[in-house]
Amino acid sequence: MDSEQIRERFLRFFERHHHTRIEGASIVPRSDPTLLFVNSGMAPLKRYFTGESTPPATDLCNVQGCIRTKDIDDVGDRHHITFFEMLGSWSIGGYFKRRAVELAWELLTVDLELDPARLYVTVFAGDSGLGLPPDEESAAAWERVGVPRERIVALPAEDNFWGPAGDSGPCGPSTEVFLDTGDTFGPAYVPGGPFDTSRRYIEIWNAGVFMQFDKGLDGVLRPLPFHSVDTGSGLERLQLALNGLDSVYDTDLLAPVVTAVQDALGEPGGVQHHHRVIGDHMRAAVAILAEGVRPGNEGRGYIPRRLIRTSMTLALTRGHERFRPEPIVAAAVARMAAHYPHWAARRGDIAAAAARECEEFQGTVRRGLDHLDEVLDRYDEIPGEEAFRLFATHGLPVEITGEIAAARGVLVDRAGFDTALERHRALSRGAAAEPGTARRTRPDDVLPTALSGTPRTAFLGYDALEAEGRVLALLSGGVPVERAGEGAEVDLVTDRSPFYAEGGGQVGDRGSATAAGGQAEVTDTVAHESGRFLHRARVSAGELRRGDTVHLAVDAGARAMTAANHTATHLLNAALREVLGEHVRQAGSLVEPARLRFDLTHPRPVTRQELARIERLVNAWVLADAPRTVESMAPSDAVAAGAISLPGEEYADEVRVLSFDGFSKELCGGTHVEHTAQIGSFRIVTEQSVAAGVRRIVAVTRERAVELTLDQSAVLAEATAVLRTAPQDLVPAIERLARHARTGTPDSGAAALGRRWDAGVGGVDVTLAEAAGAAAGLRKEAQRLSGDEGRLAVLWLTGGARTNIVASVPERHRERIGAARLLSRITERFGGAGGGNPRIAQGALPAAPDPGVLRDVVAEALGDGAE
Ligand code: SER
Repeated sequence: MDSEQIRERFLRFFERHHHTRIEGASIVPRSDPTLLFVNSGMAPLKRYFTGESTPPATDLCNVQGCIRTKDIDDVGDRHHITFFEMLGSWSIGGYFKRRAVELAWELLTVDLELDPARLYVTVFAGDSGLGLPPDEESAAAWERVGVPRERIVALPAEDNFWGPAGDSGPCGPSTEVFLDTGDTFGPAYVPGGPFDTSRRYIEIWNAGVFMQFDKGLDGVLRPLPFHSVDTGSGLERLQLALNGLDSVYDTDLLAPVVTAVQDALGEPGGVQHHHRVIGDHMRAAVAILAEGVRPGNEGRGYIPRRLIRTSMTLALTRGHERFRPEPIVAAAVARMAAHYPHWAARRGDIAAAAARECEEFQGTVRRGLDHLDEVLDRYDEIPGEEAFRLFATHGLPVEITGEIAAARGVLVDRAGFDTALERHRALSRGAAAEPGTARRTRPDDVLPTALSGTPRTAFLGYDALEAEGRVLALLSGGVPVERAGEGAEVDLVTDRSPFYAEGGGQVGDRGSATAAGGQAEVTDTVAHESGRFLHRARVSAGELRRGDTVHLAVDAGARAMTAANHTATHLLNAALREVLGEHVRQAGSLVEPARLRFDLTHPRPVTRQELARIERLVNAWVLADAPRTVESMAPSDAVAAGAISLPGEEYADEVRVLSFDGFSKELCGGTHVEHTAQIGSFRIVTEQSVAAGVRRIVAVTRERAVELTLDQSAVLAEATAVLRTAPQDLVPAIERLARHARTGTPDSGAAALGRRWDAGVGGVDVTLAEAAGAAAGLRKEAQRLSGDEGRLAVLWLTGGARTNIVASVPERHRERIGAARLLSRITERFGGAGGGNPRIAQGALPAAPDPGVLRDVVAEALGDGAE
């Protein structure tokens, strides 16, 4: 049975049994921060099981592309792959165990024609730790459809309790169907003995996860509001089983990709383990790159990086230095495009991204090899620590180190390498297994019990930028760990901190945390709702441990910018009320080092004149250098004293009232400058609408304000240079250009008039003007001036070695002077040559004419009378 037939038989079976076929989702989860990639058919449907969203029908089925990296080291064996397609069916709050078992049995034995005698099933054996009994109901359902008791195997939670997908969500006991692939793959199962699920018995159908629980981030299982069934079967494995294949790599889904790998490496003949791994990894990388994810060191991007680099390492160690990924990408795309048309549509981008990653890695390896040379000179056997250092600091995979060393007759202590790697992993265990993937504790997460009894974090940052604190907890993926090693990403909780935790529109502080044994960078600080600060930290050297005393240092430069922006926000708020009126209310604000953003209620755009008045007023207050005063008082007293408070905000018993002389008084917990001159300068960048009746102002202070002013001056200077005009003439020149653009004249090669002199000379309207653009445009513009506006025009282009000049005369003045005649008067005076007819004449002067002299020449010419 080919994969297409299996796909269709599966979906038709469930449709026949009243399931609605739905689309598969993107492998990049849309709104699930706990998952890097969709790892099962149910992952995109999580919210249906919790009741947060309503499914389109109770019973559903589909095919879902999935990425699983949990077993990545097993890839290349009989049935592990990284990208796979999962055939799935669901009953959301509908039928339960008995019906699920009946459907599974009918599907496998009737529609897919599997021999019932080769099928084994597993059921959940119960778990006293979780307080859950054995799943007798499923066992009974299997017996009812005809599975003999001795082929029903009860297994513990680690095998038969599935989920959640990610850190939290729906999960429950499961029942799975295995196919006996025969004696070649190991001994038969004897009841009570071990059940070999890696070689002989292959799981082909997770016939039902019985979704009963919602696992919280605290690890606690809470009952779901209703029960559901979630089933899934890997298409590739099912095909292996149905066709009696040796491995999933022999299926029509993977075989063409594996063949492409053999072709690319020039290794025909028997398929080897590394052909399978490269085929799998490149196909999975294609699936990820097709979603627009690009290789990188963090988060999602780390997965395609690892897949491609592992493939490259396998190729390089076999001497394929010129390994190119393109043909393998092409094979994967060609095979899958019928079901994933976007792979084909983005084929070029995918191949280019894969090739780029390969080249980058080759560069890394080349540089790593230089270090390896030095190491090779020193040892007969490279110690594990050295091999690990080459890997960790120079990106050189140990396989490559081993190959190169072997060629020089040097060994590598692989066991020592593994130990060093394991030690490194243990140090950062629990933290991101892969950089950037660490799940952060959110402000509303339930905190681990390890933190109960610890105090709120005392904030010292109004007065200090550096302080000592004690590490109360290191949370890695929300779980407390005793220590965090280099590279680990943890949320650091301390008893006291000078770091401002995000709040009131002001972003959290960044900086560093240094203990005796290590150091971490803090990239952000947020407050948990319990009042404890979560310092988002990444260990950059050594290790941090719970109980350590750490020196916490806020990035003073960033904080100074933030403080200036925060105080400027208050001054802006006051200035808006003064200029626009008391109706102005703050509708949101964001204060960060680079800029401030302020949303205000106001029924119409703020005009340019109003914005200028606001900027002047705020800058006047900055120059007044008003000192900050802070008072604590009851909220009602603060409001009575005229402090601005935010509608809808709840305030504590005591509030902080912040004033700057007579002009600003607000309730605020943020950090501010000590006196307003520290703001330096205040400039508004943009003013625009964000919603009906709400305007948004973005502004900058200090160095940023200076830079903005300089940038704007530079643009002005450039524009005047391009249009060859003075700043005060720029707007008219642009208006003329815009008019031309609208009316379509002059066309390409348009002449943009720069400096221009309009005068009446002897009753004739005369225009003398410099222009930018091409000579053809000059002619057209002169004709337009004479034709449309009845003006005698003399225009010239400057900037070249010679000056092109055009004269044109409107019809009614041609009796007094023709254009050719006028031009010859001009060349007589200024030098150069030219010619034409009475209507228009064109020539070149050695240099730009002086407009005053030119005007005299024109006046004289007109005085001359008719030609
Ligand atoms: N979610 C279950 C699994 O992935 C059933 O689809 O195995």
